[in-house]
Amino acid sequence: MSLVTVTELLKKAEEGNYAVGAFNVNNMEIIQALVESATEESSPLILQASQGAIKYAGIDYIVGLVETAAKQTDIPIALHLDHGTSFDQNMLCIRKGFSSVMYDGSEEPLEENIKKTAEVVRIAHAVGVSVEGELGRIAGTEDNINVEEEDAFLTDPDEAKTFVKETGVDALAVAIGTAHGPYKGKEPKLDFERLEKIKNLTNTPIVLHGASGVPDESIKKAIDLGVRKINIDTNIRQAFTKGVRELLGEKPDEYDPRKILRPAKEEMKEVIKEKIRLFGCAGKA
Ligand code: G3H
Ligand code: 13P
Ligand code: ZN
Repeated sequence: MSLVTVTELLKKAEEGNYAVGAFNVNNMEIIQALVESATEESSPLILQASQGAIKYAGIDYIVGLVETAAKQTDIPIALHLDHGTSFDQNMLCIRKGFSSVMYDGSEEPLEENIKKTAEVVRIAHAVGVSVEGELGRIAGTEDNINVEEEDAFLTDPDEAKTFVKETGVDALAVAIGTAHGPYKGKEPKLDFERLEKIKNLTNTPIVLHGASGVPDESIKKAIDLGVRKINIDTNIRQAFTKGVRELLGEKPDEYDPRKILRPAKEEMKEVIKEKIRLFGCAGKA
């Protein structure tokens, strides 16, 4: 099946009160693990490539691999740019066949973020591509952030209302206490009150970044409060490398990449299927 937009997937998720998993891809094995898992679970799927992934694999490889994978399954798949921090990167992805992009202007002052995001939306919508925007800054994994500092990063609900109204984004990434990367022993505490306010004021699908390592109960509550796209990268990287390490631990002399990567793929598939079931999107293809 040909690629679909994120808007189409999130509209159904909104109606059905579930979230669609958005998983980061860097190479063929990750894409295969994701598409096989989602097909086996009969789930819609968002494959997303960061600027780093595009630099690593090459944009034509990413688009070619995803289009090839999509043709071999009946489940709906979107190809999305993750954290595109420049206008040019967004335009290139649209031109190369991405069905969805993200303009991440979260480092910019609000006015500038609104202006640039709105321009990306105008162009993307003209060619049927969906757009995610970001407001508030999703933290890294610094262990010593105190509450006040942490608060300064979180999304302001009133600003979110203005941002969505003035940009016309199809989905909004928010900072409500999650962080990219591993949580290093500290359980993330999500600001559900803030999430509820943002959802009520924007009436837009909300995107949760940094979802690897967030406890299942928090994920379920976030979905109940309107999160419709959930980004997972770290947990897949961890599963991939666990598979490689275990294989090489058992067979240190193995030199055939196919034999080394097969268990990595199986480890990833296990994690991906768990997430798909947790997000409620199994059976929703
Ligand atoms: O949000 C960031 C994603 O985990 C992508 O990470 O920029 O290292 O590809 P990356
Ligand atoms: P994690 O790596 O923490 O899962 O975050 C993924 C993400 O938000 C990609 O945009
Ligand atoms: Zn992210």
